[in-house]
Amino acid sequence: MAEVIDGKSVAADVVRRVKELTAELVAKGTRQPGLAVVIVGEDPASQVYVASKSRTAKECGFHSLQHTLPADTSEQELLAVIGELNADPAINGILVQLPLPRHVDAGKVIQTIAPEKDVDGFHFINVGKLGTGELVTAFVPCTPAGSMLLIERVRGKDLSGLNAVVVGRSNIVGKPMANLLLAANCTVTIAHSRTRDLPALARTADILVAAVGRPEMVKGDWVKPGATVIDVGINRIAAPERGEGKTRLVGDVAYAEAAKTAGAITPVPGGVGPMTIAMLMANTLASAYLAAG
Ligand code: GUN
Repeated sequence: MAEVIDGKSVAADVVRRVKELTAELVAKGTRQPGLAVVIVGEDPASQVYVASKSRTAKECGFHSLQHTLPADTSEQELLAVIGELNADPAINGILVQLPLPRHVDAGKVIQTIAPEKDVDGFHFINVGKLGTGELVTAFVPCTPAGSMLLIERVRGKDLSGLNAVVVGRSNIVGKPMANLLLAANCTVTIAHSRTRDLPALARTADILVAAVGRPEMVKGDWVKPGATVIDVGINRIAAPERGEGKTRLVGDVAYAEAAKTAGAITPVPGGVGPMTIAMLMANTLASAYLAAG
């Protein structure tokens, strides 16, 4: 049976370290790191994520600001809020929770965030830095950065020559994940909905990352024996066995099957999920260091 990768525990280590470093920074007389989280509308899953981000920021000793805007907020109003946060010296990180309502151009909103406060790593400047290997000053998107940390816990920092298959080509996870694995010297393939014979391709992977948002799509017989399996999916599905109207969370990987063959695997929940928030804190602290000079 596979080693279960405890993302909750690794994330707690990261948060503890961020908290220590923040205390040192503040003791030296530097302003405390500031994180602003902006949410538009009332998507229940987004509300849960945002509350968790704000809570963890406080736990780290950050100045934590949350803007909760109504669903009918205009694009112009949202851009004005971002403009204020860009200019606010107490704020080092700005996160606009996605998805945004349809009447708002999310791309335009993201590109309005000052690149040096873009702790999500979605601005073209940061995407470009990651793509060209400028990893020292790039903000790397939190979910792939957290996934990398979990992979390194299992396989070490040098992943030279390993075959990595990333299933999913999103800008938030799939593409940055592939770039990180490439920077770590993996041979990387990005698979997606048009990929031919995905099970056979997946079976070539020493590192298999699933980030498609389809419940339990990756089956046990897609997994190479001993592979490291990183499940980025968080899908809520009906669980009639738990009673009428009940639901449960599952990943993009059929966990019970895959765990029989994998060398190591992340559970859902408790795998990649907690890492996303922890890396947001690490990015915000890094931004505060850069701002302090
Ligand atoms: N929605 C789902 N994942 C993310 C993320 O990493 N950042 C933001 N801003 N919104 C998200």
